[in-house]
Amino acid sequence: MMKVLLSLLCFIVLVYGQSTPDLATMTALKNSLTLPKGFGWTEADPCLWKGCKCDTSKRVVRIQLGNSSISGTLPSDIQNLSSLTVFEVMNNKLTGKIPSLSGLSSLQRVNVHDNGFTSIDEDFFTVQFSATNCSLSGEIPDFLGGLTFPSLTTLKLSYNLLKMTALAQVSLQGNGFSGPIPDFSELVSLKSFNVRENQLTGTPCDPRVNTLLSIVEAFGYPVRFAQSWKGNDPCNGWVGITCSGPDITVINFKNMGLTGTISPRFADFASLQLYGKVPEFKPNVVDTSGNTDIGKDGPRPAPGSPGDSGKKASSNAGKVVLRDATDNFNEKNILGRGGFGIVYKGELHDGTKIAVKRMESSIISGKGLDEFKSEIAVLTRVRHRNLVVLHGYCLEGNERLLVYQYMPQGTLSRFIFHWQEEHLEPLKWTRRLIIALDVARGVEYLHTLAHQSFIHRDLKPSNILLGDDMHAKVADFGLVRLAPEGAQSIETKIAGTFGYLAPEYAVTGRVTTKVDVYSFGVILMELLTGRKALDANRSEEDVHLATWFRRMFINKDTFSKAIDRTMKINEETEETIGSINKVAELASHCCAREPQKRPDMSHIVNVLVSLVQQWKPAELDRGSEDINGLDYDQLFSQMVRGELGEDYTQTSLPELDNTFKSDQGR
Ligand SMILES: *[C@@H]1O[C@H](CO)[C@@H](O)[C@H](O)[C@H]1NC(C)=O
Ligand SMILES: *[C@@H]1O[C@H](CO)[C@@H](O)[C@H](O)[C@H]1NC(C)=O
Ligand SMILES: *[C@@H]1O[C@H](CO)[C@@H](O)[C@H](O)[C@H]1NC(C)=O
Ligand SMILES: *[C@@H]1O[C@H](CO)[C@@H](O)[C@H](O)[C@H]1NC(C)=O
Repeated sequence: MMKVLLSLLCFIVLVYGQSTPDLATMTALKNSLTLPKGFGWTEADPCLWKGCKCDTSKRVVRIQLGNSSISGTLPSDIQNLSSLTVFEVMNNKLTGKIPSLSGLSSLQRVNVHDNGFTSIDEDFFTVQFSATNCSLSGEIPDFLGGLTFPSLTTLKLSYNLLKMTALAQVSLQGNGFSGPIPDFSELVSLKSFNVRENQLTGTPCDPRVNTLLSIVEAFGYPVRFAQSWKGNDPCNGWVGITCSGPDITVINFKNMGLTGTISPRFADFASLQLYGKVPEFKPNVVDTSGNTDIGKDGPRPAPGSPGDSGKKASSNAGKVVLRDATDNFNEKNILGRGGFGIVYKGELHDGTKIAVKRMESSIISGKGLDEFKSEIAVLTRVRHRNLVVLHGYCLEGNERLLVYQYMPQGTLSRFIFHWQEEHLEPLKWTRRLIIALDVARGVEYLHTLAHQSFIHRDLKPSNILLGDDMHAKVADFGLVRLAPEGAQSIETKIAGTFGYLAPEYAVTGRVTTKVDVYSFGVILMELLTGRKALDANRSEEDVHLATWFRRMFINKDTFSKAIDRTMKINEETEETIGSINKVAELASHCCAREPQKRPDMSHIVNVLVSLVQQWKPAELDRGSEDINGLDYDQLFSQMVRGELGEDYTQTSLPELDNTFKSDQGR
């Protein structure tokens, strides 16, 4: 007996274990639907029915019957499927009422679109009303995001012939709705429609607008367009769009910094007028027929418009095949090797000589690239007759090329250190003085640029270039950093050349304009003595020129021996000797250990101007001065304004005067 009872119990458990609690509901659904022939749904367990899925506790969680040619109606019993997460019956021929889904708290997705439903259960909304406590004001409440369907992410009711023509107020603010806003043109009673704070995409647009939107989609919808493109008429002042009547004739997205792909939908604008050269292709690849202006230059864009690329384009306008210009970077064209690469001499097709700086590939990535860009940024902004001109640049693949004005006489180092091997005439004192003034003015300009101050940080004779008129220009701004506005100094890694480094810069990395003043002082010493900033041939404590110079400068005797003999000072006038004394004083002053004791570049310019002025204009080869050299009017006015700084006059240094001349004469 017990055995029978036990087996009966087992049977009951087995039956209940196999069956789903949703069997009755699913049967009601099956009976309500008209399934196409051979659709199935013949199994006893609805969990095995096509399009249906149950969880481990045999509760129906998914009903997916889209695209199944099903007709009939949906029973209200589906409200009992309390574990349902997905309910999809779109693209069928269902009719009648969409029943209430209230209480289906697990529901995440409902797709009922593309059917023939004629109404929606009042409960579908009224239940939500009570749930969100909105009383009976008639508003469609926050039924999707609220308490009823906390996990609902998608609800599609479109294309259902649903009629809610009495609807007067719709508030769907602050939901996660996306996609297009449906057509509400039938809702004649609608007075208020609020869908703010969703991700909806507007009402249907003009076809031109749709095409333009798809074009800028490929660029990631830049904000610039979002701000300008308002309304439904692209011809109404949209940025980048020019029309003739309703036809878009020009789309000008030049220099907008766009990235992405060029949409093939540009082709939708048959009214676009094409200009410019077409690259050559094999026959029949490109059809440009019907474009009367193809091959011609386009109309000039209005100044300031996106197409008006202005100066930037002109720096690229001379874009040349730089490999050709430098004879494939031939060794014989090497002008010099700088901190960041090799400088080649080159010649453009029109005969213009250029200097091409080719960066080493190892230093052009990461930080090196930043340096490179900083050099470009500085050089394109800075124009001064004593600064080397940057003609243009080339950033292509791994190549990082800068194209400079060619300076035919090369570096100052050639003339003061290597004149013998280069078979050059040693420079006279007057010429050295003028070069010093040129350099001082170039650097002064960098230091006093409006609003911002540039610090060169690597001033040295190999960065000073000479033209055929032997006037100097400062070169190599690779190390220039933009000094932050108002900042007294910038702390940064050391860049520069030993021998020219100001002590505080070498020790602490503090950079001020006084760092350049120190380097300039060393250059003055080099011009005076013809000796290099660092010379291993000097005794150990005198390896550094500035130290040696200070020692030699202690008395007339040693100082007269320190002056570059090639200048033949003994043959010079009192004036010359006086000016050598003054420059020697200035050099010591510039190389003062404490930066605050060093003069400003403007003070240096004033001192040098007053010394240059001593020579008659005739001696300065006035012909070329008008363009490249000194502006005498300006020079004079600076001289009148110029006064020696207080600290400068306090410096006590030996006078050479005429005794120096006799020393040299001995
Ligand atoms: C669904 O639930 C309601 C209320 O509990 C009940 O009256 C109805 O019979 C159920 N439907 C089915 C098919 O079980
Ligand atoms: C339904 O059919 C349409 C077109 O007939 C198709 O695009 C869509 O992917 C189908 N959906 C499903 C769920 O099969
Ligand atoms: C619903 O409204 C009633 C009456 O206005 C109010 O007493 C109740 O606190 C509200 N419930 C919620 C959840 O806001
Ligand atoms: C040092 O002096 C020797 C002999 O005078 C000379 O050959 C050499 O080039 C000098 N070195 C430097 C660095 O000037």
